[in-house]
Amino acid sequence: MSMKSSPTTYGAVAVSIHWLSALLIVGLLVSGMLADDTGDPATKARILSAHAPMGIAVLLLTLARIVWWWRLDSHPAPLAGDPSWQMKAARAVHGLLYIVVLGMAASGIGLFVLSGAGAILFGGAPGPLPDFADFAPRVPHGIGAKLLAALFIGHAGAALYHHFVKRDATLKRMWFSR
Ligand code: HEM
Ligand code: HEM
Repeated sequence: MSMKSSPTTYGAVAVSIHWLSALLIVGLLVSGMLADDTGDPATKARILSAHAPMGIAVLLLTLARIVWWWRLDSHPAPLAGDPSWQMKAARAVHGLLYIVVLGMAASGIGLFVLSGAGAILFGGAPGPLPDFADFAPRVPHGIGAKLLAALFIGHAGAALYHHFVKRDATLKRMWFSR
């Protein structure tokens, strides 16, 4: 399989970044909600010690993905036969996924720095963890989480619709071909 995409299929780099990011983002949505839900400070600290590096990994993967598409690779052509509103909706959702993921990473880092949680969990500063609700980036991080979950459902739902109902190559070409 070629590293770069062809007019008909995604290349190995795009496919690897896509699925690794998707896996990490599901982990982030789940771990973020668990951190928010738990009343136990030690559990919250343990969850956030994994949540923060995963978020930074997604940020780096997304920046790499932007550079990859911008400088080194070109998207395959849209599959023939889709109504133009669906192609426009897909493009808009992909663009919003980039924006919301970058916003989540930025607000998460802002929250960690401003609240001092980063210094407590990773810098050996004395605890306890702060109440994150006291810090401004908690608001966009919470709204972004809901928006990202909605985009995720719409995007994955569309992919599954193409695969199981329309039975076209949309999902297959976002996988490793022989
Ligand atoms: C794409 C990246 C990220 C995603 C998808 C994500 C997702 C989430 C979600 C779903 C929540 C729970 C929100 C709620 O229920 O209102 C959350 C909370 C949180 N996240 Fe993230 N996050 C990301 C990046 C980060 C990063 C990079 C950091 C820190 C460096 C971070 C730190 C936090 C903190 C401190 C909370 C608050 C927990 C609480 O209120 O108890 N997040 N995140
Ligand atoms: C939150 C996790 C996800 C994010 C952030 C995401 C993001 C993206 C983006 C930005 C693209 C456009 C290609 C690119 O810029 O690299 C894309 C394409 C695609 N994604 Fe996802 N994705 C996620 C999860 C999923 C899941 C769970 C599925 C399948 C159930 C899926 C199936 C696809 C398919 C089939 C394409 C190709 C669409 C086409 O050719 O028009 N994605 N994804």
